[in-house]
Amino acid sequence: MAALRRFLVLPRVIWYAARAPRGRDRVWDTYWRDIGGGGADGDVLWDGATDRGTRWCLDQALRHFDPALPVVDVACGNGTQALLLADRFAPVVGVDVSGEAVARARQRAAGRSRLSFRVADITRPGAGRDLAAELGPANVHIRGLLHILDERQRRAAAGNLADLAGERGVVLLVETAGAGGALRYLEQLGVRLTAFPQTVARCLRAGLPIPRDFGERELARAFPADRWQVLTTGTTDLDVVVTGGPTAVPAFYAVLKRRT
Ligand SMILES: C[S@@+](CC[C@H](N)C(=O)[O-])C[C@H]1O[C@@H](n2cnc3c(N)ncnc32)[C@H](O)[C@@H]1O
Repeated sequence: MAALRRFLVLPRVIWYAARAPRGRDRVWDTYWRDIGGGGADGDVLWDGATDRGTRWCLDQALRHFDPALPVVDVACGNGTQALLLADRFAPVVGVDVSGEAVARARQRAAGRSRLSFRVADITRPGAGRDLAAELGPANVHIRGLLHILDERQRRAAAGNLADLAGERGVVLLVETAGAGGALRYLEQLGVRLTAFPQTVARCLRAGLPIPRDFGERELARAFPADRWQVLTTGTTDLDVVVTGGPTAVPAFYAVLKRRT
């Protein structure tokens, strides 16, 4: 019965996907261009930062990051986590493939001298080396990127993160945990035949990929043990904005360091 209920939303998902633009940079710019605002009652599905969520992020960063190093927030979106990290670390640099996202983040960070943003694709060969040449070794925070990349892109991103972190930086990543397929994931977000949260519809209309599973197995594939030391992994929640306000969905996190 549950499977049938999930299956019934499929035509609408296909309808959105068939009309969506193509091309990775384009879909993200299309998405961000259409956004009014973020936050708990805003348009951005993953921007439901609650006090509990922001405290979790800062606690992890304070526990694991060397405070003497810069922090790079990879796939920073509209800058929510970069702004948060900049309360405790400096400098903080947010990086995103979408110029539209970076423009929004810059607007929100106006007047913060040790917080900056730039446009870069973290799967592009050399992206990590370029950032490291400018910043030196850095701690890296990533939230909600690896679960939307395919395996090849994840490996490319991990290679860049190794270059960026160098021998002293630590990588803290948090991704929605495997929900057991796209339809089950949509159900977790409150998608039903009779109810389709606007924050989710907005993602599908723009052509954003639906997250894939990301857990221990995917971590080991993207960050192989001969190159990476896993300091810790675990489960947490990620606050998303659906009908009725922020909702916590299950998430997976890991803290890693490059092997020297
Ligand atoms: C799910 S959002 C998460 C945003 C932010 N980390 C947060 O949690 O609020 C994913 C972000 O990754 C960015 N992105 C997608 N592919 C990317 C890539 N290859 N390199 C850098 N950023 C990317 C998108 O533009 C988008 O802002």
